[in-house]
Amino acid sequence: MPASPDDPPALPPPERRIFVNRTLNLRSIRAVGFDMDYTLVHYRVEIWERHAYERARATLERRGWPVGDLAFDAEFVILGLIIDLELGNLVKASRFGYVTRAFHGTSLIDFEHQRELYSRTLVDLSEPRWVFLNTLFSLSEALLFAQCVDLLDRGLLQPGTSYSELYKVVRGAVDRTHAEGALKAEIAANPERFVVPDPELAPTLRDLRHAGKKLMLVTNSEWSYTRAMMSHVLDAALPSGTSWRQLFDLCVVSARKPDFFLGQSPAFEIVSDDGLLRPKTEPMRWEKAYVGGNARELERDLDLSAEEILYVGDHLYSDVHVSKDLLRWRTALIVRGLEREVAAVESFREKQMELSVAMAEKERLEHAQCALRIALLRAEATGAAPEENFHAKQSGLRARLAELDQRIAPLASEAGELANSRWGLMMRSGIDKSYLARQLERYADAYTSRVSNLLAYTPFVYLRAPRVSLPHDENPVGSE
Ligand code: IMP
Ligand code: MG
Repeated sequence: MPASPDDPPALPPPERRIFVNRTLNLRSIRAVGFDMDYTLVHYRVEIWERHAYERARATLERRGWPVGDLAFDAEFVILGLIIDLELGNLVKASRFGYVTRAFHGTSLIDFEHQRELYSRTLVDLSEPRWVFLNTLFSLSEALLFAQCVDLLDRGLLQPGTSYSELYKVVRGAVDRTHAEGALKAEIAANPERFVVPDPELAPTLRDLRHAGKKLMLVTNSEWSYTRAMMSHVLDAALPSGTSWRQLFDLCVVSARKPDFFLGQSPAFEIVSDDGLLRPKTEPMRWEKAYVGGNARELERDLDLSAEEILYVGDHLYSDVHVSKDLLRWRTALIVRGLEREVAAVESFREKQMELSVAMAEKERLEHAQCALRIALLRAEATGAAPEENFHAKQSGLRARLAELDQRIAPLASEAGELANSRWGLMMRSGIDKSYLARQLERYADAYTSRVSNLLAYTPFVYLRAPRVSLPHDENPVGSE
């Protein structure tokens, strides 16, 4: 049956939707900038990060560190956790910075000890003590750090080394892995092993072009790697005789984000496919490719204003935080793990209802208990007779609360292990938003699991932020 005009095609399933923090009308966007790694090109985290981890581990081994037995575990860390350099811990925090779960090295810290360590401490990323895990590239680094904390605690590394010094060495090893050519050469030679194919990516980008948007690539990767990856993910899906270069109106490689958004670095023009450079002597122009440069120059030379540019990336700091904070570009964050997260939340929906009903009942009974208790104290104070059957009522309430707690405990612990048994959901800390969710709502106007989710929405979509709920929207305690 043909669809009627007011019967549009179905939206994607929940895990492939676009979620909106601040209303974004795509019609008013003239240019869409994309990050490449983990944005346009999604890697198989298990394989890419294992390779990066193994190379960094080998670097530490060459330093004489006893890291030969360490093994990669793609599930140990999730996006948005925070390294505590002072104590050698990995923590998850709520939106206010309260630590809600913590590991020392690779061991869970029990709740009482965690409270002792952090009851007076709030995570604040402006302090050098904390390192936020901004992107999937951070996972191998955080795991290697946690494993080295174990080694240091067991006396197997230089005694007297601080956790902060330890982190510097691990960071250096991971940094080197990314910077030296060997890993990238291995990937570029065999991209299908490392990259998750997405047949909807090319049609999505082509739709944006059909709708008259300029497409820009702004990546920290270098030219030869960028060419190999972009060609791998797009060329086969484009009309014959065309390549990804015709799809993008502008390319900036080795962009050095976040400096690209913060600084005044000069750009070089790429004048041949093999990457020959010459200093840029005239304004940036569409159809060209550059190395470096900066965002203010891009805006000025291409005559774009901030609210006409949408930048889409996966790095919370380097892609969306700085572009939003400094330039007020419109921003979208790609969080591939959302697909797993939303599916886990969906599958827990009925139990979540059960848990919410039980919690509401618990609040009601607690309120009755409080009222009974104060009635007794008031009666005692005035010498009046206590309420009839006071003790029976009190013990009845106590028994019902104990029975409720028995039902709540397993549900609450299951809720705390959704999507990842160690850390639970990325976006929640207990019933509150997580620190990651807070960062995301501050800096990303929209977020979604992959670029191609836009295909179903079309380049004309008016993405409206939902009305948010506030604590006083709910019924107050004790109400019917
Ligand atoms: P983008 O996400 O497209 O901007 O590209 C990210 C680039 O940064 C990739 O080439 C990564 O290999 C590289 N990268 C990620 N983490 C590090 C690091 O810790 N040190 C140096 N390069 C990194
Ligand atoms: Mg990226």
